[in-house]
Amino acid sequence: MSKKGVTRRQFLNYTLTGVGGFMASATLLPMLRFAADPLLQTKQESDFVVTDKKISEITSEPVRVDFAYEQTDGWYSSTVTNTAWVYKNEKGEIVALSPVCTHLGCMVDWNTNEKYPNKFYCPCHDGLYTKDGKNVEGTPPTRPLDVYTHKEVDGYLALGKVKPREEA
Ligand code: FES
Repeated sequence: MSKKGVTRRQFLNYTLTGVGGFMASATLLPMLRFAADPLLQTKQESDFVVTDKKISEITSEPVRVDFAYEQTDGWYSSTVTNTAWVYKNEKGEIVALSPVCTHLGCMVDWNTNEKYPNKFYCPCHDGLYTKDGKNVEGTPPTRPLDVYTHKEVDGYLALGKVKPREEA
């Protein structure tokens, strides 16, 4: 009579190889995905988000423009909401400012404090910026508000990345 069963040694070899393979793939696959993720994200990062603000409606008075977009981080997707302060300067060019105070990151508002008319005001530590986003000396912020890259898409304002303002 021939024995066709699996020996104890073979059983242990199969089991340990299987468990080892599973543990190795569970460790390596997320690392490979993490390494490849920046390559997969490049197109999305260069995208602009089209807002519901018509270019023709933008005046010389800063207005708050809220917008939202889908963001995928690995396998997690979420809706991100963001804000810009937008107006046309004396040359008719669009200026889109980040609302994030460059001191410690609170949100600035336009023309909301009676003591400082026609200024961006940060309520956290009385930070002030002029209309073009320059920080007012003697207040906590030490650099201007960041600006959004922007363009026109079918008559609407589209906003891109935030970048530090270039000094003239
Ligand atoms: Fe705006 Fe401090 S966070 S002044």
